[in-house]
Amino acid sequence: CGIVGYVGAQEAVPILLEGLGRLEYRGYDSAGLAVIGRGALRVHKVSGRVADLAAGLPARFKGGAGIGHTRWATHGEPSVANAHPHTDTSGRIAVVHNGIIENAEELRAKLTADGVELRSQTDTETVAHLIAAAFTAGAHDLEQAVRQALRQVVGAYGLAVLDVEHPDRIVVARNGSPVLLGVGEKEMFVASDAAALVGYTRQVVYLDDGELATIIAGGYRTYTLDDRSTAKAPATIDWEIIGAEIGDHAHYLIKEIDEQPRAIERALRGRLNERFATAHLGGLNLSTREAREFRGVRILGCGSACYAGDLGAQLIEDLARMPAASESASEFRYRNPVVEPDMLYVAVSQSGETADTLAAVQELQRKGGRVIGIVNVVGSTIARQVDGGIYLHAGPEMSVAATKSFTSTVSAFALLALHLGRIRDLSPTEGRRILDGLAALPGQIAEILEAERRTGAVVAVAGEIVQRRSVLFIGRRRGYPVAREGAQKLKEISYIHAEAYASAELKHGPLALVSPDLPTVAVVPDDDLLDKNTSTLAEIRARRGPVIALAHRELPTDLADHTIVVPKNEPELDSILMSVPLQLLAYHAAVALGRDVDRPRNLAKSVTVE
Ligand code: G6P
Repeated sequence: CGIVGYVGAQEAVPILLEGLGRLEYRGYDSAGLAVIGRGALRVHKVSGRVADLAAGLPARFKGGAGIGHTRWATHGEPSVANAHPHTDTSGRIAVVHNGIIENAEELRAKLTADGVELRSQTDTETVAHLIAAAFTAGAHDLEQAVRQALRQVVGAYGLAVLDVEHPDRIVVARNGSPVLLGVGEKEMFVASDAAALVGYTRQVVYLDDGELATIIAGGYRTYTLDDRSTAKAPATIDWEIIGAEIGDHAHYLIKEIDEQPRAIERALRGRLNERFATAHLGGLNLSTREAREFRGVRILGCGSACYAGDLGAQLIEDLARMPAASESASEFRYRNPVVEPDMLYVAVSQSGETADTLAAVQELQRKGGRVIGIVNVVGSTIARQVDGGIYLHAGPEMSVAATKSFTSTVSAFALLALHLGRIRDLSPTEGRRILDGLAALPGQIAEILEAERRTGAVVAVAGEIVQRRSVLFIGRRRGYPVAREGAQKLKEISYIHAEAYASAELKHGPLALVSPDLPTVAVVPDDDLLDKNTSTLAEIRARRGPVIALAHRELPTDLADHTIVVPKNEPELDSILMSVPLQLLAYHAAVALGRDVDRPRNLAKSVTVE
């Protein structure tokens, strides 16, 4: 879900709509706005997209203070009644909220017993009524009323409150769900994600858990639930504003695929140390001695971040010869994990806000684990929670499906593996081989994209895939995470069923499915496992299964119906290049099927709930 707010001399509505549009990737089944103008609070909500909200907005919707929300349903189905903002009975208070209030049932029962008529099924509505009740009980200003209300709330929230009796201000609060303030010239902004502020201001104040803020056109004040002031200076965010604009591209997804050469260049910039044949990673916050003493590496992330972690683990094993494994953060947090003091933990998250990954980090830290992050969004919750790490600098990723963040994350892992390797056994010659490989990546990705523009080879394969109900993706060793990520991309944006298997596992089950109706996409790099991979293809062909191969050179037609030829790098880094045609395959399949490429059904870019 996403929150925006504005107070200042401009009309709030266009600013709120633009901000909501930028946040829509975080959740998009309903949206709403509240503004105060000419002494009245007006609320407009729709079950649908921000564009539907804008289209149906009455002309009288004007004012210099307002809040907006885009929602991804957790409590209560997507509907107008459940959309935010929520108001109290008198229509004085409006609230937008991200997160989950755990004692909502209890609060709802209490409010009902007090005679309040609840109009939605949400947890958020309770907050509006609790604030109104605090006024009835004698609170003399909005800050006091919000503090009193929040003292009764258990759970996670990032919220913003408007009060028609205090039309010059917005009160916001954070506990477990991000909120930041944007500082402008005689105007102030609120957002749950800095992406909403792009183009308005780069001066931001991140709230911490347990903190509240009041914003008025002229400035802000931050304080705690017991009203102790927490003076905070703004920080400057530096990202390319251009990164969040769609430009001439049909979709954010293809724009972000196309941006990969530059994104990886940025991930590598200033980090390739030619002289010592190593990687320079200034933000790790680990001394050489500390880094040497770790016995192994455990990687945690969700979705594509976890698959990138699988490749990261193999890079670390290969280059640093340390035991390494990646696990989904959501599973990790629900076990009772043994946290080892001599283990380096790495949390991977594009957004830096994924609730499951954050919870895993907090659990690790509670048990004394040393956690670093590989994160894209600067200043995000996970980035601030960890002890150090590597920023991707990939620029804003707007489309729900991860693309440039995936390849940038794997590149960042290669840097980490090189760094850990060079303070252990990796020779300078080997270090240089990896450095040269990394430096070649941006140009080779550009080559892949250029070749596709010329030949349309992937578009042609996508045309065949969309005729099928299901697709198998296979790969060995480093090819297996590539296959998993490829299957994930196809599923999430085209809705074609896809399944990834380690090639050698085929004979333990899925070979039974192989038939002329089930195409297999196979990752077949030209490495020491080439023979193994070609014999797997022969097994599939023997059962008349269609094969699409990703390889370093054209495969004979008795092994593959189509080969997508990818340039060769070092074996450890080939997986990054092999991922790119699979992104294109999913994209073209989704476009051919007329899917909502950037906002696939039922999904959100950053899942800030469990
Ligand atoms: C969601 C997105 C995925 C993403 C995952 C982890 O499920 O739809 O594309 O890989 O979250 O996101 P993160 O921001 O933590 O990398």
